[in-house]
Amino acid sequence: MKLIVTDRTGNEHELTARDDWSAMEVIRDANLPLSAECGGACACATCHVYVDEAWTERLPAAQQQEIDMLDFGVAVQENSRLSCQIKMTPELEGLKVTLAPESL
Ligand code: FES
Repeated sequence: MKLIVTDRTGNEHELTARDDWSAMEVIRDANLPLSAECGGACACATCHVYVDEAWTERLPAAQQQEIDMLDFGVAVQENSRLSCQIKMTPELEGLKVTLAPESL
């Protein structure tokens, strides 16, 4: 399935996501600049992405730990999510996200 990622320079990348991988793993596997420092443990907020408006309602809701960790993100918006907590499933075919600014 496809995961469409806009990088911080505005370029769009069409990535192939494997079932059950997290969006973070797909993005990192494609060598896009996402530091994902904690390796997907929902403990860093460096995998922060913005979810395209058309998709925000279609994603499973964030768990409390993700919501708490987003407090440490930079430039957090309504459509902010931690990409390590987005599990790629066939329902998410064509999901669009944008890399958030890097944390300092
Ligand atoms: S990789 Fe650390 S919270 Fe997602």
